[in-house]
Amino acid sequence: MIQRTQIRQTKINSLFTQSKESEVFPYMLVDKKVFHIDDYIDFSIFYSDENHSISVFLEQNSTIGLKYLHKIKTLDEILILKSDREKYDIFLEKNIQNIVDDKALSIDEKCDIIYESSTELTLSLYSNPEALKNAQISKSIITPILGTILHNNNTISSYIKIIEYDYYTHTHSLNVSIYALCLGSEMKLNEEKLSLLGRAALLHDLGKSKVDINIVNKKAKLTQNEFKKMKMHPSFGYEIALKMGIEDKDFLDGIHYHHEKLNGTGYPDNIKDKAITLFPRIIAVCDIFDALTSRRSYKDAMTSFDALILMKREMSNHLDMKILGIFIKMLH
Ligand SMILES: [Fe+2]
Ligand SMILES: [Fe+2]
Repeated sequence: MIQRTQIRQTKINSLFTQSKESEVFPYMLVDKKVFHIDDYIDFSIFYSDENHSISVFLEQNSTIGLKYLHKIKTLDEILILKSDREKYDIFLEKNIQNIVDDKALSIDEKCDIIYESSTELTLSLYSNPEALKNAQISKSIITPILGTILHNNNTISSYIKIIEYDYYTHTHSLNVSIYALCLGSEMKLNEEKLSLLGRAALLHDLGKSKVDINIVNKKAKLTQNEFKKMKMHPSFGYEIALKMGIEDKDFLDGIHYHHEKLNGTGYPDNIKDKAITLFPRIIAVCDIFDALTSRRSYKDAMTSFDALILMKREMSNHLDMKILGIFIKMLH
């Protein structure tokens, strides 16, 4: 276990180094461990030789044979074109879904693979010059905490429920967790609190697994009845967390109250002002920011600048403006 943890920490550390390069490069680094025998790829794979020149390793629309798989393992760096990011995301999604569904794999093996995919997502978040480029100080603080959260089997076994259910909720949850960790560290929360915050943020939408998937993924506007069902997810998440044995009030509040609004018009309990504690206030800012800046099949992503302007102008009765101010300062 110690060895696995160390490997994971090293990988997260290396992500932050890689992300700097990717901003000026037409290619992006990907983890070679996500490729398996007989995987079909509709994007080309490249490698960089000792002179740092880039060559094609495998053309798009190929199947990875045993010979290529062995060769991939000997290469230092595997790259794809940034313009193929969407195809690569779809590849990862299928890959992860199959693995999570695989009854033959132990929880430890699933943990490792989820970690691999999560580091990919972390890399993409940190490579986005619009998002976390400037949160340099936070990186060194959150890196070990994120590593700890992502190898905690208790957290991961609940998190698997999210991945099994919906890939978008998985990527969204991971993004919210990273934003919350950065924000919490900017707010000088101690390491113990940060770890709880990161876990609460990772599991904040866990209750969606109890809502009809067709409602969660509906592209059109929800009907009144559907929205009523959707609004139950924070309470469902809270109940699951209790069953998991989570007793920490901050942690539970983070899940239960992340959709409450300071003026009392949120849900599920319409609580207001001081009744909304720190964790749900932090998670709410990160949750909305990620929802606005993520691309979905039915909507384009907002730039982080536009999203922050919108949040500041239109959500002053809803979000904690002091926390939003720290978030804005952290990102820009
Ligand atoms: Fe939510
Ligand atoms: Fe959310």
